[in-house]
Amino acid sequence: MGELDHLLASNREWAGRVEREHPGFFRNLSSQQRPKYLWIGCSDSRVPANEIIGLLPGEVFVHRNVANLVVHSDLNCLSVMDFALNELGVEHVIVCGHYGCGGVSAALAPSEGRVMDHWIRHVRDIAKFYRDEIEREPSVQAQARRLCELNVAVQVVHVRESPVVQAAAARGVKVHGWIYDLADGLLRDLTPTVDGVRALEPSCRLPG
Ligand code: CO
Repeated sequence: MGELDHLLASNREWAGRVEREHPGFFRNLSSQQRPKYLWIGCSDSRVPANEIIGLLPGEVFVHRNVANLVVHSDLNCLSVMDFALNELGVEHVIVCGHYGCGGVSAALAPSEGRVMDHWIRHVRDIAKFYRDEIEREPSVQAQARRLCELNVAVQVVHVRESPVVQAAAARGVKVHGWIYDLADGLLRDLTPTVDGVRALEPSCRLPG
């Protein structure tokens, strides 16, 4: 008996159920994937991409990291975007943050000098840039929520600034910013917040 046998048993049950509901599902999927969406979200266990948008395997390509960051030099995320857009033909990139994000809250507290703090530093920079706007919020909780929203908006701009997405945008690929509320399970569109952050950095704009 392995310690994780219950997970393997649960997997067999799940695969059986999916195959009963959609005969031939795994055989069809094993030969190709054609997802329309790329999801860039937080690693948080409470924000699983497929489940919260009700999509089956094969329908959404997923990249997750702590605090849903798109760092200009992160080859991991850049490779995911390149593959999703240029190989799979994804049509929409969704950057999804969530309220109650531990990575974002950590950026509002003093650094503890842990490895994680190097990563969170990217969010800390956003908090510093938008300090006035964040401090207008009436409570610590509201400030953290606002930073969660601003973080998504800035990451959307980072996606749009990447050369791979600029090239894809020319053929109609769209980038969206969403936020998920752990308290009610609902997603909200952050377009107004995204539109409020600085425009594409002119020096990063591709010619043509
Ligand atoms: Co999070």
